[in-house]
Amino acid sequence: MSKITKSLFGDLEGKSIYRFTLYNNKGNCVSIINYGAIITSWRVQDKDIVAGFGNLKDYINNDAYFGCIAGRYANRIAAGKFRINGNLYELARNNGKNHLHGGNKGFDKVVWDTGSNEMEEQPLSLHYLSKDGEEGYPGNLKVKVEYDYTDDEELIIGYFAETDKATPVNLTSHCYFNLTGDVSKNILDHSLLINADHYTPVNESQIPTGEIKAVGETAFDFKEMTTIAGNNSTMEAGYDHNFVLNKNGDPFSFAASLVAPEDDLQLSVFTTEPGLQLYTGNFLDGHLINRDGKPINQHSALCLETQHFPDSPNQPGFPPCILLPGKKYFSKTVYKISYNGKAAREIQTKEG
Ligand code: GAL
Repeated sequence: MSKITKSLFGDLEGKSIYRFTLYNNKGNCVSIINYGAIITSWRVQDKDIVAGFGNLKDYINNDAYFGCIAGRYANRIAAGKFRINGNLYELARNNGKNHLHGGNKGFDKVVWDTGSNEMEEQPLSLHYLSKDGEEGYPGNLKVKVEYDYTDDEELIIGYFAETDKATPVNLTSHCYFNLTGDVSKNILDHSLLINADHYTPVNESQIPTGEIKAVGETAFDFKEMTTIAGNNSTMEAGYDHNFVLNKNGDPFSFAASLVAPEDDLQLSVFTTEPGLQLYTGNFLDGHLINRDGKPINQHSALCLETQHFPDSPNQPGFPPCILLPGKKYFSKTVYKISYNGKAAREIQTKEG
């Protein structure tokens, strides 16, 4: 078992916010705070591969969901409405006329419970009770997220939930990656492979049309490793789209691989989820400042969000997302680092 260290990160509404750091035997570490269950840092060799801030205030004030767990329903729900068994539910509309990432105060903006144990060993477990009616959602939802960082460089995220009324649930990690460790370098130069033959086209307010469309040889074709910039030539702002992952009957499967331009670090993603939202930081505009003082600009970092498809509560053709009382929600995603080129040589030298 690898170790966890704990230090005070700040205070909010009379509650202590801690930073937990999960180490592996390579000396690399992932830090998580119990505000928003946010991943604040992932240090690999000499780089921090996630963009983020050095203090709690910046996390509280950020409007871009940095490193958080997004929920109760990550991504958009059209017009903030859905029906279950004929009952209409109306949610907070916090993204134009739509609902986004759980509403005005989603799981990204709440203090998660660290439980009674001292958590000196992994996994780190964070709990949150989302009350019946919160942001308009039905049912008391008990949520648990577990973080585990292994000696094989896998960051394993386990998501668990139970409810007392039928409710949509869709949980994801909203980490912003830049594998160069330098947010002044544009992530459009990273290469990406997505294990998806299809994606879900969206309308002008980013709500899926319901179609599941073949990526063909379009800008959505990441079936082979290709630079994002190269593929993106026809798309102005970048990507903010859901890809339909190829599952081939395997519930836990390979979703994507991202490679830094110098080709030394590779991040691979595996998941039980049916979809992957590729968000290339299109709305980032330099007003948020990274922990090292550098502005986080458009395309400074990207998210690979494993999840159910956007607006699933209103889309009968999409995989179902309604959790029923007595049933258990479980989802698992692994982000795994591997080394190429210079990084691999450094590891070899260290290991003798
Ligand atoms: C992404 C979403 C984007 C944007 C972003 C937060 O998950 O796909 O449209 O809302 O979060 O700024």
